[in-house]
Amino acid sequence: MIVLKLGGSVITDKDRAETLDGEALDRAADAVAAAFDGATDDALVDGLALVHGGGSFGHVNASEYGVSTTAGTHDPGGVHAIHGAMTTLNRFVLQRLLDRGVPAVPVHPFSAAHRDADGDLHLPTGQVETLLGEGFVPVLHGDLVAHAGEGTTVVSGDELVADLATALGADRVGLCSTVPGVLDGDDEVVEHVAAYGDVEDALGASESTDVTGGMAAKVRALLDLDAEASIFGLDALGAFLAGADVGTTIE
Ligand code: IPE
Repeated sequence: MIVLKLGGSVITDKDRAETLDGEALDRAADAVAAAFDGATDDALVDGLALVHGGGSFGHVNASEYGVSTTAGTHDPGGVHAIHGAMTTLNRFVLQRLLDRGVPAVPVHPFSAAHRDADGDLHLPTGQVETLLGEGFVPVLHGDLVAHAGEGTTVVSGDELVADLATALGADRVGLCSTVPGVLDGDDEVVEHVAAYGDVEDALGASESTDVTGGMAAKVRALLDLDAEASIFGLDALGAFLAGADVGTTIE
């Protein structure tokens, strides 16, 4: 099966609070619908779990309340603002998929996952696995989670992707990003990354407000996975879902 993350910056206008990039979301939903519809590819027939990030939904609220993946809040207003922004975005994503016949259903991490006092994430996946087995496309999202000793902290879509891929034994993992892959010093896509040292010099931090780390954190997390992982742009989403090697492959 495939675990696919749609980056928050891909599907929202990251510089304007709580604003969708409707055109980009349509293109992403078209690609998912096309792949899901006529799926002849074994991996797709076995299932697709989607995760989306926050972009301009969630990050701004998280900054307002001083919440990150490690620093939490006990303020219920903060929980409602951040989780509420993410469930609003989730409804938009679900609707565009449903409009195209994709059997997309929500799975909200706040209601399922937690971090222990060491900050380690515990994400139950029985519901996702069962939904996949029943032919649904579960759609998770970056969110807040209960965090022992911190109140609530952010869980990023990238963390969810890593845990899901491991728990579900994913064959392929895709991160659909605003860039066509990991870029080297000349802004060329690095096709393969086998070790972090391959790209260490080239990786900088994400420019807009992002409480969950940029490309460097993504590459590190993907290197730890058993599944083959790719980072690619929206233009390549259809090809990725059809089984092609696109963008940067990390294994
Ligand atoms: C953000 O999720 C979730 C919150 C800030 C609550 P991500 O960290 O996965 O979002 P993007 O993809 O980087 O925007």
